[in-house]
Amino acid sequence: MNLHMNLAENSYDIIIEPGASKRAGELLNLDRKVLIVTDEGVPHEYAEALALKCREPVIVTVPSGEDSKSIRVWEELLQTMLRHGFKRTDAAAAVGGGVVGDLTGFAAASFMRGIDFYNLPTTVLSQVDSSIGGKTAVNFGGIKNIVGAFYQPKRVIVDTGYLSSLPRRQIANGLFEALKMAACFDPKLFELFEREDPFTHLQEIIEASLEIKKKVVEQDEKESGIRKALNFGHTIGHGIESFEELHGLYHGECVALGMIPMCSEKVRRRLIPALQKLGFPEAGGLDREKILQAMTHDKKAVEGGITCVLVDEIGSFRLEKLELSELAERLNATLF
Ligand SMILES: NC(=O)c1ccc[n+]([C@@H]2O[C@H](COP(=O)([O-])OP(=O)(O)OC[C@H]3O[C@@H](n4cnc5c(N)ncnc54)[C@H](O)[C@@H]3O)[C@@H](O)[C@H]2O)c1
Repeated sequence: MNLHMNLAENSYDIIIEPGASKRAGELLNLDRKVLIVTDEGVPHEYAEALALKCREPVIVTVPSGEDSKSIRVWEELLQTMLRHGFKRTDAAAAVGGGVVGDLTGFAAASFMRGIDFYNLPTTVLSQVDSSIGGKTAVNFGGIKNIVGAFYQPKRVIVDTGYLSSLPRRQIANGLFEALKMAACFDPKLFELFEREDPFTHLQEIIEASLEIKKKVVEQDEKESGIRKALNFGHTIGHGIESFEELHGLYHGECVALGMIPMCSEKVRRRLIPALQKLGFPEAGGLDREKILQAMTHDKKAVEGGITCVLVDEIGSFRLEKLELSELAERLNATLF
């Protein structure tokens, strides 16, 4: 299945097909210098296979984990491109999860005011969500995604073959983000999570999620309206994630926890069993006050409250500004 992201001059194709990365030579323009960025946890043969198809590949392997989304590592990528004499007509390609994608996309956006960027996502999270839509960023000053750019890729290859090496908990991590999209936009996809074993329906879930995200991004590329719904679970999720080093939760798991206080009782009764089926993380050990504190650093925080995404009925959402006191109450009532 292919999707076409319609964004005027920033339009691009998303190729979704098991084994599609083997056709990278025909799908991408690799007859130039290509900076291939991957991380230490991604099987190295994925980047090497792509390099074999490039005229002048330069592979950079960054440490795995959120710490690589930093100004320091971003600068390393820019230094590498300078050292190898990259020009504006050259390209960068991400072969990895959301961390590598966000980092490489931002390096591509900023080098010589923008070189071509290809994304080959290798985690479920990046395949269902982060690889399309053009949000690129690094973390800075202890705040997630605070320095970045909207910069669309030139093409995205979603090869579910990459997922064969991905541990089950990482698969679940991405499925939480897919469930988030289903909760806001697609009751049928939500039912699939309830009825079936989601781990055996990955291709279907990835395709459905990308269709949702494509439609959302096409309507609201720069997140001034409907795209905010994709932040369902993220206000509290980011608050929890700020203390990631304390409890080792993954991004999708933090989002999963963050969705629970943000829905109606009726939705919660369906959401919690669906989350549990995926291997839902325990909220135990989290510090409510620290989460609330971190949420006020969230870039979406505004005076007089935080605009949150609330889900009252599966397949719909509303935006509402909540005072910190109400957020605290919701956390108390549902997570603590
Ligand atoms: N840009 C966006 O729109 C957007 C949306 C959602 C999340 N994100 C960002 O995405 C990041 C999280 O992404 P993630 O969950 O993919 O994490 P990640 O990139 O850290 O990858 C998770 C782990 O899986 C390993 N890995 C990757 N592919 C593998 C494979 N095929 N086989 C075995 N191991 C593999 C990596 O080495 C890493 O240790 C966060 O920084 C988050 O902010 C961005």
